[in-house]
Amino acid sequence: MTHFMLKEICEQPDVIRKLIDRAISISFEKVDRINILACGTSLHAGLVGQFLFEQVAKIPTQVRSSSESLFAPLIETPNTITIAITQSGETADTIAALQMVQSQRIAITNGIDSTITKQVDRTIYTNAGEEKSVAATKTFTAQLVVLYQLALEAAHQRNQIDQQQFETHLESLRQIPQQIEAILKNNTIAQIAETLRDTRDLILIASGINTAIALEGALKLKEATYTHAEGYAAGEFLHGSIALLDPQIPTIALYPETVRKTIDRIRVNQHHVIEIPTAAIPELFTPFLTVVSLQLLAYELAILRGIDVDRPRNITKFLTT
Ligand code: M6R
Repeated sequence: MTHFMLKEICEQPDVIRKLIDRAISISFEKVDRINILACGTSLHAGLVGQFLFEQVAKIPTQVRSSSESLFAPLIETPNTITIAITQSGETADTIAALQMVQSQRIAITNGIDSTITKQVDRTIYTNAGEEKSVAATKTFTAQLVVLYQLALEAAHQRNQIDQQQFETHLESLRQIPQQIEAILKNNTIAQIAETLRDTRDLILIASGINTAIALEGALKLKEATYTHAEGYAAGEFLHGSIALLDPQIPTIALYPETVRKTIDRIRVNQHHVIEIPTAAIPELFTPFLTVVSLQLLAYELAILRGIDVDRPRNITKFLTT
């Protein structure tokens, strides 16, 4: 393979397989609040985590960009857990944000012995192997696996799901690698990329747990292909932003079954919607599939445009200052 980004996208099934059956023991019984701090792609993993902790484990959860938390720190209680998510473990804003935290701190990171690991009470490694491409891919899905494990464990401990539901969810997680492999073997995304070769502006819509993936897909498309892409919650898109659309601006719908009303509204106005197909799996686990499709789309489009996909302009892998 000629590019690290593609190699790292393709490594995801194995990265996930290695993480799935790892036991993580953290007590959530007394926890009354979870705060998540992160930047960029890790922030989007945090948004998926927020959905899981709130909707599955029923723990109030806030996510804040590390840089914004310097101006508006999250509220903490004596039983808050703060989770810092960072691929590198060296992101300056996340290090600075953690310095202001009083509660129990947990890091989710791929950076072995990185600065963040020395700041926290507990580190959970994502063990994704080195990620060389500037665009984070395999480290994102590895962060998701850890967040699913934590949220399911929390839900189980707090009797929000019973043993059977817990096992069923873990089994859904175990199925993810082979479903990603099916996407990687399929040519659909390459064909979609071809239709977007000259597109300069793109809208991504999704709902629920996939709204974070619309944001993440937009970020991947911006940094890898220099396309102006914006992600929206599909329902919210109707409240003004839909006025942006013209024949030159296609909309990509993630997990289209859940955003049909917005798709119909866009089509009624004669605008173009691309539906990204998603395998029939429980909706809770679809972010793994929707994000891989968008990573591939960003990669394919970058290649069509002759962009040096592993080293996009203006950014570096580590934002240490
Ligand atoms: O190492 P970190 O996860 O803390 O990095 C955060 C962001 O700088 C990073 O995710 C950035 O957005 C990536 N280039 C995204 O692909």
